[in-house]
Amino acid sequence: MVIAVVNNKGGVGKTTTSVNLGAALAGPRRRVLLIDLDSQASASLWCGIQRGRLRPSSASCLLYAHPIKQAIRRTSTPHFDLITGSMDLANADLALCDLPGRELALKNLLKQIHTSYEMIVLDCPPNLSLVGVNALVAADALIVPVAPQFLAVEGLVSLLASVEKVRARLATRSRVLGVLLTMVQRRNGAKLEVGERLRARYRERVFHTEIGMSRALEEAPAANQTIFQFAPRSLPADAFRRLAGEVLQRIQYPVRH
Ligand SMILES: Nc1ncnc2c1ncn2[C@@H]1O[C@H](COP(=O)(O)OP(=O)(O)OP(=O)(O)O)[C@@H](O)[C@H]1O
Ligand SMILES: [Mg+2]
Repeated sequence: MVIAVVNNKGGVGKTTTSVNLGAALAGPRRRVLLIDLDSQASASLWCGIQRGRLRPSSASCLLYAHPIKQAIRRTSTPHFDLITGSMDLANADLALCDLPGRELALKNLLKQIHTSYEMIVLDCPPNLSLVGVNALVAADALIVPVAPQFLAVEGLVSLLASVEKVRARLATRSRVLGVLLTMVQRRNGAKLEVGERLRARYRERVFHTEIGMSRALEEAPAANQTIFQFAPRSLPADAFRRLAGEVLQRIQYPVRH
């Protein structure tokens, strides 16, 4: 099962969700691979890879035919592996655009490692560039984090329209597993309203679990720890555990839309 964490809006919690949901899903009976598709490589740095050691990265495999199995690294969480992102991804659109089947490059690569992992989580860049489209095509399911900011609902409407377009044009099978409210602050009327509008419009497509604003989540990346290592008994650790439960349930019993 390939899950892409997507939103073309920046800073909405994609990387935070990819790293911690991935870690929550990982276990002895469920091997998980996180693939960092962002040129900023935030997920890779969070997992403790040094900036100078990001290569070989997902870009090496996508653009320069590096064998994907040789790009896989262990993380400090058992059963949770990583393929890094790197600056080279910033050139991916130009490098990919002349290739035949340029939107299928990632999907084809993943076929080589599909059987080694129960779950592959894709941390997407904040745009629908060719790498983003490759992620949509490779994914079975999409998780869309949304932070309750100004124009968040409008942004989501246009993102979902783009996803539909890609789905129709490229005949992909990906479906939206759920919209995830992130960075939710209690006691903030305007922001609460975004959550209510989203739930009213998208109903059961919005995950019950919300990720609250949390100091621990903000600090965990600098410590190179997942929330389960950094603050295992915190509210966000609990939230990501519950989210993992919802994800597993939805994979089995999809919400129709
Ligand atoms: N629930 C939260 N509580 C506090 N801080 C958070 C929370 N979620 C994310 N952040 C912080 O907000 C910033 C953006 O989060 P994150 O990197 O996960 O978003 P993103 O969508 O991946 O961003 P980009 O579009 O740049 O890739 C980060 O500094 C992160 O530490
Ligand atoms: Mg990110």
